[in-house]
Amino acid sequence: MNDPIVYLNGDMTPLSEARIPVLDRGFIFGDGVYEVIPMYGRKPFRGTHHIARLFRSLGTIGITNPHNEAEWLALIDRVVQANDLNDQIVYIQVTRGVAKRGHAFPKDPVTPTVFMMTSPLAVPSAEVRAKGVACVTLEDKRWLNCQIKSTSLLGNVLAAQYAAEHEVTEAIQFRDGFLSEASSSNVWIVKDGKLSAPPKDNLILEGIRYGLIEELCKSQGIVFEARRITREEVFGADEVLLSSATKEVLPVVAIDDQRVGDGKPGPVFGKLYAAYQAAKAAL
Ligand code: PDD
Repeated sequence: MNDPIVYLNGDMTPLSEARIPVLDRGFIFGDGVYEVIPMYGRKPFRGTHHIARLFRSLGTIGITNPHNEAEWLALIDRVVQANDLNDQIVYIQVTRGVAKRGHAFPKDPVTPTVFMMTSPLAVPSAEVRAKGVACVTLEDKRWLNCQIKSTSLLGNVLAAQYAAEHEVTEAIQFRDGFLSEASSSNVWIVKDGKLSAPPKDNLILEGIRYGLIEELCKSQGIVFEARRITREEVFGADEVLLSSATKEVLPVVAIDDQRVGDGKPGPVFGKLYAAYQAAKAAL
């Protein structure tokens, strides 16, 4: 996987040889959207959900979707089969395309740039899961269209860098005193056995794991509520969890150097993690 085979605008090529023109609007303006899809045993996990979110992101910013669902799934399979790994993470990026620089959309039709690459899927180790991870908090200063999985990620990049400088796993963001999400994960709290997460609105990216965890709650008899969550509630929670394609579900045991609950991964995490693994095994 040193030089994986990637897909770029119809061609399969080694990553080291893939090139885009500098006037690509993805490069110039961050004018594009992306997806990150986990593959277990070379099969996409919640693949159709990821494709549906890609369609929503493209539609919201007015990029013509170059493929239907079956074509996208076939392209993903092509890239995955070209690389010799069972568990992979597929990255898809679609930009508005190449045009003379100007902020508004180009007047003449442009062909979207489509890029797909794959890398090894490294989920958190058993040791990391057993111990739990630490996070820091910061004010959410991103824009108000966080529901779009946009490649314009500077706000998320700065939040992730803040976490990296504090040598913790994630930066948990608050907007006006209410929980939004982490730099690249959704955030969940547990109080008295009940799971809560911020509503699916423009202030967060609706993770594909968001819907999955809602389903797992139903099957596991865990009460779930989507609602505004205050900073005080996060610090007073029995458990805090992160979810993302690469983290799966991950317990948070310290925030800003304060212990979460009893400082150990809790029972709701345990149930959800087991149910998540069962969903993967059923692929
Ligand atoms: N990020 N919120 C943000 C801001 C994210 O970037 C992500 C995922 C999520 C969780 O979404 P999902 O369950 O679909 O992975 C929430 C991916 C992994 C990334 O940017 O690499």
